[in-house]
Amino acid sequence: MAQIRDLFVKKDTSNDILKQSGLEKTLSAFNLTTMGVGAIVGAGIFITPGVIASLHAGPAGMLSFVLAAFVCALAALCYSEFSSTIPLAGSAYTYVYTVFGELVAWVLGWSLVSEYMFSVSSVATSWSAYFQNILAGFGWRLPVFLRAAPGTASVPGGRFDLIAFLIVMIISVLLLGGVHESARVNTAMVVLKIAVILLFIGVAVFYVKPANYHPFMPFGVGGVFKGAALAFYAYVGFDAVSSAAEEVKRPQRDMPIGISMSLVIASILYIALATVLVGIVKYTKLNVADPVAFALQYLHLTNLSGIISLGAIVGMTTVLLVMSYGGTRLIFAISRDGLLPQRLHKLSPKTHVPVSNTILFGLFAAVFAAFIPISLVSELVNIGTLFAFALVSLGVVFLRRNPDFAHVKAAFHVPLYPYLPILSFILCIGLMLMLQVFTWIAFVIWQAVGLTIYAIYGYRHSLARQRLYK
Ligand code: ALA
Repeated sequence: MAQIRDLFVKKDTSNDILKQSGLEKTLSAFNLTTMGVGAIVGAGIFITPGVIASLHAGPAGMLSFVLAAFVCALAALCYSEFSSTIPLAGSAYTYVYTVFGELVAWVLGWSLVSEYMFSVSSVATSWSAYFQNILAGFGWRLPVFLRAAPGTASVPGGRFDLIAFLIVMIISVLLLGGVHESARVNTAMVVLKIAVILLFIGVAVFYVKPANYHPFMPFGVGGVFKGAALAFYAYVGFDAVSSAAEEVKRPQRDMPIGISMSLVIASILYIALATVLVGIVKYTKLNVADPVAFALQYLHLTNLSGIISLGAIVGMTTVLLVMSYGGTRLIFAISRDGLLPQRLHKLSPKTHVPVSNTILFGLFAAVFAAFIPISLVSELVNIGTLFAFALVSLGVVFLRRNPDFAHVKAAFHVPLYPYLPILSFILCIGLMLMLQVFTWIAFVIWQAVGLTIYAIYGYRHSLARQRLYK
């Protein structure tokens, strides 16, 4: 029995919440919002609307974006309740450790590692497609086998995505040097991203042909749901906001505002872009890696296509930085709890960067980016993230009943409790079920590898477990 109890040992955060972490509390709701938009808006909006429209939902792809936004909004409310009740770094992993105990926290943490790592891989693949698009404008082309991962629909001869591999390595080198975005650089890049998307919408809207919206739902309602499971990818990243909880001036108020505002901004941009895109190009033609640039070339607006591609690349670079940084910070937190080798939270005395962790994370993400096509790797992001959101939603139900947190005042409360968290849980699981069989197999293998690591290493070295026997 002792062993089973050990598996569910809880992290004691009561002291951590009360003590000063040493991090400066400088972030406002505005900073959190720009940070959120920086992490959210990247490859997703520049690739998924094409695939969703052409293969799954037709012009009704815009509804897929609405549905995915709704699911994210529910999960975001649940996140907000957690992050304003337990304002500690480590995001959902830490929350679940305090509520459900170690084994569930490990499974969730491992899912989040897949969210961050596969986000980096997939965004790098899209970065590569857009970059190659610009190079092609100058007449420079890589040999076909180095242009994309095997199985990429638009590049049948691809074997290794060289550019995707290199950009992930470059980001890792930047992180190793201690570079991670300053709030000001991030704000500038976010403004640029939004400007580029608005520019596209503002120009393209004049080329919309109403005939392109017929038939509106060629693949039925099922296709819209399937599309939502893919559109979800474009919204991934708002949860990274909660990792800054310890540096926020007034987390109880600012965290819910930052999370929801970034999600609202992303939703408006996405739904508008998805609507305009299928209005200018017939949905059947949109199964390409860079549909936004493609649509502009289709309209012979080549110069604008170049500007948009450049903006897309800058936008995706912030996602690469934030998600690589977030991923290494998460692994740092897991290793600090003793569940992964100590080396992974050892900091370089000079740069204060976890060196081994950053190198390993970068290498894995780069290899996945080079060898797995984006259609598969983006689904891997979704399944891990949806699973994490499902657990967080369920976690809220238990958090409220947990006497340890009853004293935390003025925390944000999810409305319509317990119905809203339960609905959020059901919708997340529902979208998971829409994903391909391959994705599920990969997810099960990923979790099996994780549980093996836990059995061999984490269980024995867990600090929370060791505390039980003190
Ligand atoms: N939401 C992130 C993006 O679309 C993963 O790039």
